[in-house]
Parts: sequence; C-alpha cells; structure tokens
Amino acid sequence: MNAVHVLVSDSGALDVDAIRRDFPVLERKVRGLPLSYLDNAASSQRPRAVIDAMSHYYENSHANVHRGVHTLSQEATDLFEGAREKVRRFVNARSTREVIFVRGTTEAINLVAQSYGRPTFGPGDEILVSWLEHHANIVPWQMLCQQTGATLKVAPITQSGEVDFDAFAALLSPRTRLVALAHVSNALGTVIPVHRFIAAARARGVPVLLDGAQAVPHMKVDVQELDCDFYAFSGHKMCGPTGIGVLYGRESLLNAMPPWQGGGDMILAVSFEKTVYNGLPYKFEAGTPDIAGAIGLGAAIDYLESLGMERIAAAEHALLVYANERLATVPGLRFVGTAPEKAAVVSFTIDKVHPHDLGTILDHEGVAIRTGHHCAMPVMEFYGLPATARASFAFYNTRAEIDRLVEALHTAREMLG
Ligand code: ALA
Repeated sequence: MNAVHVLVSDSGALDVDAIRRDFPVLERKVRGLPLSYLDNAASSQRPRAVIDAMSHYYENSHANVHRGVHTLSQEATDLFEGAREKVRRFVNARSTREVIFVRGTTEAINLVAQSYGRPTFGPGDEILVSWLEHHANIVPWQMLCQQTGATLKVAPITQSGEVDFDAFAALLSPRTRLVALAHVSNALGTVIPVHRFIAAARARGVPVLLDGAQAVPHMKVDVQELDCDFYAFSGHKMCGPTGIGVLYGRESLLNAMPPWQGGGDMILAVSFEKTVYNGLPYKFEAGTPDIAGAIGLGAAIDYLESLGMERIAAAEHALLVYANERLATVPGLRFVGTAPEKAAVVSFTIDKVHPHDLGTILDHEGVAIRTGHHCAMPVMEFYGLPATARASFAFYNTRAEIDRLVEALHTAREMLG
C-alpha cells in the first residue's frame, strides 16, 4: 500500500488522523488521560512501519553484515547498505562513502573532533561555535582544545535568540580551523540562516560542521546545496530508532582523516607489523554496527518521504503559529526565543512557577513537555534563567493537544502562580 494515498488528503495536506493511527504510542493513556506528546525535540515517536521493519529484520534476516557468504548475512548486508543509500538520497550526499553510521549526533561530532581536529589542530588554532549550541556541540570541542591547545571561540546571540552574524564574521580569523554551528537550536527553535554563515566561513577557507539533529526531522536538508563539510543528525528525533545516527562528511575530508576507533570491519588487512585500513565509509565503522537501527532509520526515511518534507514543515509551522497565539493568552507567560524563523519549538517561563513544577502538573494532565536546561546551559545563562518549559511539535500533533497544553498551564498558574 502506498502511504501517500492514505496519509495525504485530496487537498494535499497531511491527514493527521490517519497519521496518528500509524503511531501506536499515541493511543495510550497517561494517568487515565489521552497522551499529548509535545516533547518531540527531545525524541520523536515511531510509526508502526519503523517498528515492523526492525522486528521483521530480527525475525527473518538477522546476521552480521559484511562478513558472511551465507544467505542471512547477505540479506542483512543488503538491508543495512540499502538503509545507507536511503540516507544518502534523503540528504543528497554525493555518495554512500560520505554517509557514516554512528550512534547519534553526539558521536558524529565527537568523531569529527577526534579524527579531523585532534591530529592537526594545535595551540593558537581556533574553533568557532555559537552561544546557541547544544552541549554536544560544545563539550567535544572543549575536550579537543584541552588535548591540542586550540581555543574555543563563541559567537554571541541576540535577545531574540539569533546568532549575531556580524559578531560571528568578526570572530572568523586566519586561525579559525573549523566552524561548528547548530542548524536549528534545540532549546529555542531558532532556524539559523546557515547559508550566510557557511558562505562567510568558506570565503576564508574554513570548513563547517552543522549539528542538524533538530533540522533533519522538520525540513528538507540537502548537504550539497548547503555546501557544508560535515552534517550530523540522529535517528530518534526523526521517527527512527535510538542509538543510530549519521555523520555526513565531504569525501575529500573523510579520506584524509585517520580512523577514530579501531576494530573489525574498518580494516582490509591486519598483521602485528602493519594494519591497512578499509575505505569509506567502513574506515569509521569499527565493530558490529547497529544493523537493526540502520534498517529502522531507513524505514523512518521512507515514512517521512511518503508524507513529504515540505508538507511536514508546513504542518508543523501551522502548529507553531497556533501555539504562539494560544500560549500568549496564559497570564505571566514569557516566550524565550522569538526569532522570526523558528522550527516548531516553543520555550517559555511562567511568572512565579518553576518550570519543573509546570512539567509535573502537565504530566498529571497527560501532557508531556520538557523542562530544564535542554542540554544548552549557556543559552539559559544568557537569559538569566535556570530552566525553561519547552513544548516541541511534530507533524502528528494536533491543535487539540495544544489546547490541552494551554488549559493545563492555566491550571498550573491557578495552583502555583
Ligand atoms: N537534545 C535533546 C533535547 O533537546 C535531548 O531535548
């Protein structure tokens, strides 16, 4: 059955009721109430197609990949490499050699730090990030700085939660060895106009890594059109499994980088005198990979493509607009991050109510949001806040769920405000 015919209505919009039936967890109740799952920036939910693809693989074709001539190993290899090709097409990489399977965005960034940065960066070299970054795009660079003597530079942000381009450009120096930027801020939802930042970096010959964890699930990403050098993302935020993610890297850079981890599959020949490394992408995939995870990720890509990334982006934008209107009616609510270009993420505080208390009260109403620092403590520090409440929407969310969020916030405000 072609999902497009089922999940897209005659008008070309997404049929959200039909889509919701594909996600088993959306049927469940929390504390006796229907679940409103509004924590998609932390992790999305999975459609049955993804769960089934993984179960089918385990029930029928599981064996190790790239290692056996027997039928199951060949089937597993075909499924695994088929998933790699789906990823390549999804982000428009030139070749599957540029698609490295990793555990997630965090591991992808650590791989670049340790394999691209560590062998060649030294004292005086600079890595330029922004104040908006997730810890996964800060700490690996701090570790690299400790290891190499390089320096971390941080481009400031504005009150609306945008990266200050002029300040960023002024921080690009002859010593800048790498720019590492979020494509979309996880804490605030800001969509960074990365083309401009990439162009400025490339004009100085500086490679650019994008943390795409919050972008890939919500918009069409084309790494060739972006002209970035590295792009990192995770399966679990895009309806795929946890424990699988992707590092896209420009082939010429990946070729020049030494392996990060050693072990099986990343070698062509091993003796005690000399080891010859495998070619791309296997050079960076030591050990048995997450085969089922890759297959699940491929199924997630099929699912997202059956809906269409443009339709997904439009549906989520409509939810964001509605949420902004409705949340503005809650007394004492302050939006944190008001950039004009945002993904469907709303961070906020409510006067006299601690975000954690909000999260607990909302859970009692069956509404799941994230409260805390969102793994972006510098962003919280910038706004002088210990934490925010964050609602983040996916294409399967509804206006009714946003209404429930708003009602629950009114309740919390009456109880605690
Ligand atoms: N990075 C995830 C978030 O934003 C966990 O919540």
